[in-house]
Amino acid sequence: MAESIKTIGVLTSGGDAPGMNAAIRGVVRTALARGVAVKGIKRGYAGLLAEEIIDMNRNSVSEIIDKGGTILGTARCSEFTTEEGQTKGAEVCKKFGIDGIVVIGGDGSYRGALALSKHGINTIGIPGTIDLDIACTDYTIGFDTAINTAMEAIDKVRDTSSSHERCSIIEVMGRNAGYIALWCGIANGAEDILLPEKYDYNEQTIINNIIQNRKKGKKHHIIINAEGIGHSTSMARRIEAATGIETRATILGYMQRGGSPTCKDRFYASIMGSYAADILCNGGTNRVVAYKGGKVVDFDIDEALAMQKDISEYEYQVSKILSM
Ligand code: ADP
Ligand code: F6P
Repeated sequence: MAESIKTIGVLTSGGDAPGMNAAIRGVVRTALARGVAVKGIKRGYAGLLAEEIIDMNRNSVSEIIDKGGTILGTARCSEFTTEEGQTKGAEVCKKFGIDGIVVIGGDGSYRGALALSKHGINTIGIPGTIDLDIACTDYTIGFDTAINTAMEAIDKVRDTSSSHERCSIIEVMGRNAGYIALWCGIANGAEDILLPEKYDYNEQTIINNIIQNRKKGKKHHIIINAEGIGHSTSMARRIEAATGIETRATILGYMQRGGSPTCKDRFYASIMGSYAADILCNGGTNRVVAYKGGKVVDFDIDEALAMQKDISEYEYQVSKILSM
């Protein structure tokens, strides 16, 4: 262990994601096992600037591994995107004797961590977002729970859609990324899957598809629409007018961010939390933890933020073939 690392902090930032608590637990217990003290920073960077900082011990993270949300709370904090905010954040860390911080969040949160590391505070990021939109990693904490929650909800909408012989547009989250839509689209056997990365905004293709499917005797028509495309309600109105088939929009919304994490989210969040604490305790900084090629690895934050990621063309083509 690097001589200088006596205390580390942990915070959750951006949108909450199921499994964040397991990651916090992994960080706290690993650091304590190495003789390093841990402080919990509440409400992300907002709580850091407001000095909402608590001491954490082994019991602080008892009975949380199965809980959704984040016990530390989270926030979006525009002040932290400014130079003044970042300088103040680093000063608060020094005031509380925090040598390094584990930041659990998405790309935006990583940019905050990068800024802190430039101000002399050791940082490491853990990918926590239901969107799966972090380029350096094949897995992000919360995605697995979110897709399972959405999948179950979509199955239910399909039951009623079939009974009424309706068309259903179901909008899933993901910000500008279509990963939740693609996974649910395939897993739910949707007739159309609209992804921001691929959609050509030609509604006539969808309308033709609905009419063709109805002629073939299909009782329902499920369209999974990604949040990045949005406008599901107006799309439903236009489709109903063009096809004469009753069409309803369901926006799944925040239910996708809540709930008890799946085994996979608990497992990888625990491993990543522990891995991140080890790096910080060893004096590492400006790193992010990732899951790549079946292994937990780490990258420089700058390197990670420069990476690009896109929907797999193969998976997209398969989704189209299977929906026929
Ligand atoms: P996510 O981490 O899920 O991508 P956001 O993009 O909302 O979520 O980012 C979370 C928080 O990270 C922001 O509210 C802000 O406090 C901080 N942040 C985002 N971008 C930057 C940036 N360029 N520099 C410093 N901090 C940032
Ligand atoms: O990043 C997770 C996410 O739920 C996105 O899918 C969505 O676009 C966004 O957060 C919603 O953010 P907010 O909680 O600020 O409404």
